[in-house]
Amino acid sequence: MTNIKNIALLTSGGDAPGMNAVIRAVTRKAIHEGLNVFGVSRGYEGLLLGEIEPLLRRDVGGIINKGGTTLKTARCEAFIEKENQEKALDNLKKLNIEALVVIGGDGSMRGAKALSKLGLPTVTIPATIDNDMCGTQYTIGFDTALNTILEAVSKVRDTTSSHERAAVVEVMGRSAGHLALQAGLACGAEVVLLPEHPMPLMEMCERLYTTHKNGKTHSIVIVAEGAYSGYEVAEYIKEKTYFQPSVTVLGYQQRGGSPSARDTIMAARMGEEAIDALVASREGALIGYVDGQIVITDYEEAESQVFKVDEEVYELIHVLGS
Ligand code: ADP
Ligand code: F6P
Repeated sequence: MTNIKNIALLTSGGDAPGMNAVIRAVTRKAIHEGLNVFGVSRGYEGLLLGEIEPLLRRDVGGIINKGGTTLKTARCEAFIEKENQEKALDNLKKLNIEALVVIGGDGSMRGAKALSKLGLPTVTIPATIDNDMCGTQYTIGFDTALNTILEAVSKVRDTTSSHERAAVVEVMGRSAGHLALQAGLACGAEVVLLPEHPMPLMEMCERLYTTHKNGKTHSIVIVAEGAYSGYEVAEYIKEKTYFQPSVTVLGYQQRGGSPSARDTIMAARMGEEAIDALVASREGALIGYVDGQIVITDYEEAESQVFKVDEEVYELIHVLGS
């Protein structure tokens, strides 16, 4: 068992639905374990500037279903510098804070790993809509983003089918195609374009022709932002075919909104695991979800576990969509 009495938490990188539910879970579970909790504003930027305030049970009331992050978030280039990490540690020391829970994506985990190396116990809870982190098959926010895409595409489909057109929908995911892949399956897309599976645009057009020959009068193309821009794809379709393409870039809609049941449940379970880990002196690690279990993995090992996009799902989308 640990002697830790005071912990801090922060959200970092891109916001994701479910971050507030994590803040609530971590705060209340920690207080239940007899710890004092501090919230850091604006991720590593706030840590550097000493923007750290106590968090009480009631401070995290009424946020479980809210999108975004009440602690705010930021991308902070300066935190890559060791001297700034040391400055952040001094700010925590001044308040006798002995451990840190980081809520964010891969980059945020690298920041947490750097602090752990400098002697501060940290754990990271994965949260990003991209589901692109090593060491975990699930990141909080992914399911909500997927449902947002599904809802948007079904609306776009109404017009696309009424006018017998082709709709190109660009989704986020940074350099990974997890969101586009699962969205493609959920939306019944005719074609998905992923960074992991570069499909020449001519081949995409041939696939659209095939579906047309099979009797389809409209089509949906889901494009991962890491593969192509939606505009580029639509321009190509317009130039090379007789289909009339429209473009929808979903953008930040995908990061907003109330978390889904799945994300809220994962937030509670991962939040609990993070505090259990710190109380048991199990730190320097990522809380993850692997093969249906909540697991905790040392940062270095987590970094070596890369979960690729599922090839079978990619094939299935094109079988079902043809
Ligand atoms: P995400 O956590 O969603 O992947 P970013 O990649 O933008 O988002 O990372 C969030 C923040 O984590 C960065 O702005 C930076 O402050 C911090 N960070 C990223 N990489 C490192 C690193 N190698 N060392 C220290 N801090 C880092
Ligand atoms: O990591 C989440 C994400 O929304 C990515 O899908 C996207 O590429 C990126 O963040 C956009 O970042 P920014 O917050 O800088 O617009």
